[in-house]
Amino acid sequence: MFSKDIGIDLGTANILVHVRGKGIVIHEPSVVAIDVNTQKICAIGEEAREMIGRTPGNIRAIRPLNEGVIADFQITEEILKHFIRKVAGRGFRPRVMVCVPSGITTVERRAVVEAATLAGAKEVYMVTEPIAAAVGCGLDIAAPSGNMVVDIGGGTTDIAVISLGGEVTSESLRIGGSHIEEAILRHIKRVYNLAIGDRTAEDIKTTIASAYPDPEKKMSIRGRDLVTGLPATIEISSTDIYPAIEEPIFSIVDAIRGVLEVTPPELAADIMNNGMSLTGGGSLLEGMARLIQERTGVPVTLAEDPLSCVVRGTGQILDSINNMSRAPFVVSYTKGR
Ligand SMILES: Nc1ncnc2c1ncn2[C@@H]1O[C@H](COP(=O)(O)OP(=O)(O)O)[C@@H](O)[C@H]1O
Ligand SMILES: [Mg+2]
Repeated sequence: MFSKDIGIDLGTANILVHVRGKGIVIHEPSVVAIDVNTQKICAIGEEAREMIGRTPGNIRAIRPLNEGVIADFQITEEILKHFIRKVAGRGFRPRVMVCVPSGITTVERRAVVEAATLAGAKEVYMVTEPIAAAVGCGLDIAAPSGNMVVDIGGGTTDIAVISLGGEVTSESLRIGGSHIEEAILRHIKRVYNLAIGDRTAEDIKTTIASAYPDPEKKMSIRGRDLVTGLPATIEISSTDIYPAIEEPIFSIVDAIRGVLEVTPPELAADIMNNGMSLTGGGSLLEGMARLIQERTGVPVTLAEDPLSCVVRGTGQILDSINNMSRAPFVVSYTKGR
């Protein structure tokens, strides 16, 4: 009997799927397009994202996972089924490991298991985001030594101190990359009277925004002038954008300091030695790693390919589990029907 192992990172901004022996086979935005008249899903992932802003009025694109919790689990169920079926093929009963946000409720957890089972999973495992991120960036989480992981995603920042395979202290902050974008969008509107799209805001963030705006980078952006109502182009710099990003990035720094403050002293000493690891797409913001290091005094390592740490972690954890045993850090295990 063939068996496939599938690891899924159900992120607020991106969904990634890892298949044993193949690596990462799916990396698509967590977007779903819905027909508002029939409430039916028209597209999922990349296809749905391409529809944003280009569709008739009855189709709406949403990010159902944007708050880091599963806001609409009927949609989440469809997403899970869509991707599991896409990679599993016919006749396979895969083992599935889903990475979920730390704050997930029992009801949400059951919904995820149900969805994966309906999609044909033979066994469903669940692991929390910081644990998967830590494994994915190469930390030995089972060791009797404190490790710290900060995952800055689209909708949330997950901070955790891990020792002996468990989260000792943790926090899930509802601030991530998308909040930085929203702040940039509002700032450009207020200061330059220019309305810009979501994609332009993300472009500004990834191209010129920086926690240390000196030396400056510049770019020209297009939008609609709110005074004349006509298209307009302006040039902006890293310094121009800084006032917008300051608040969200310092909220992240403060939350990390907060977790360090409640970490038991022995583990805090380990963290000073081991440093902290940054994962998630938001950690790629220019200067973010340096800012965290300077404001906490803890050495910071930016993970290699931070966007894929979590899903690689699910793959590795699944590899290490044989059918019967249960690793202590797996928060849920269900045998399918
Ligand atoms: N180079 C970059 N600079 C700043 N932010 C980035 C960069 N690349 C990606 N991001 C941001 O990372 C976030 C997505 O990260 P990801 O780890 O996939 O989130 P999630 O786990 O919540 O799905 C988005 O907000 C995206 O804009
Ligand atoms: Mg994530």
